[in-house]
This record gives sequence, C-alpha cells and structure tokens, in this order.
Amino acid sequence: MVRSVLFVCLGNICRSPTAEAVFRTAASSANLDIQIDSAGTSDWHIGDPPYGPMQRAAKGLGYDLSDLRARQFSVSDFYNFDLIIAMDESNLSNIEALRPSGVHTPVKKMLDFAPDAEESDVPDPYYTREYERSIHLIEAASEGLLGKLHCRDQRLTA
Ligand code: 4NP
Repeated sequence: MVRSVLFVCLGNICRSPTAEAVFRTAASSANLDIQIDSAGTSDWHIGDPPYGPMQRAAKGLGYDLSDLRARQFSVSDFYNFDLIIAMDESNLSNIEALRPSGVHTPVKKMLDFAPDAEESDVPDPYYTREYERSIHLIEAASEGLLGKLHCRDQRLTA
C-alpha cells in the first residue's frame, strides 16, 4: 500500500512544492492518510521558500505554499517513500541516475496520472511564466493519483 509520496522537480521552488500542497489538500478532503513531501534534484535553492510569483498564483487558487522550504532529493528518498513522482522527463532521469541497485521504488511522471492532458511533462513556470496553467495540470494529476491510491486502498482493505 502507498503510504508516502514524494514529488520532485528541479529547484523545488515551483512545481513540486505546488504538487505537495495541491495533493495534500486533495488527500485531506478525501480522508486519505498519507505522508507527502517534495524535493528538487538540484541544490540551487536549498532552504528557500517557493518562488514568489508561484506562491501568489497558488494562493489565488486556494493553496498556501508559504511554510514550505526547498530541499535536495537524496538517495535516502528511495527508501523513505513508497512512490516518487517527477514533474518532467529530465527530473525522472536525474532521479533514476541515483537509484541504488536492487531498490524498486516506483518513479512515475506527474502527468501519467492526468490522461486527458495534452502534454506529458508539467511545464516549468519558472521559465514559461504560466503559473496557473501548471497548477491546473497539477490539480488534474492529483485527482488522478488520488483515484488510483483510493482504489488500491479499497481493494486491499475490502
Ligand atoms: P522548479 O522550477 O523545478 O519547478 O522548482 C525551477 C526553479 C528554479 C530554477 C529552475 C527551475 N532555477 O534555475 O533556479
């Protein structure tokens, strides 16, 4: 059973902290008890709060990112989380490059859980400046992920 999920992007100041907050909101309203965290593959923003314009866009859609602080993804995350979710293909390959041999923690892409999305990577609003568009994609994927985890929980506990 999946009891912990880690969302990962490059800087951990735009997409993955947003995914952390959005999925925490979705899981909480569905009464799903799950540990949720986020990290970046780079060390560029360790200790920083989420990017200001991202925080403002998220706040406008009901998500408070202000308490979050960036940290770097590490090998220990393969052992500490049941599921790792990368925001894009480059994040995925950066994560896979660190996978210890014999460790099978699944690493998926966020938009694997949003089958209706036209793209397969969450665009990085740090570059695109399209904050709300990325948030809406993250919301769609969070709902998809929640559905998957709920179904699995029900099957296991039924
Ligand atoms: P994120 O976006 O990976 O969604 O947090 C980025 C934030 C900062 C930088 C790159 C991507 N940067 O180059 O500092």
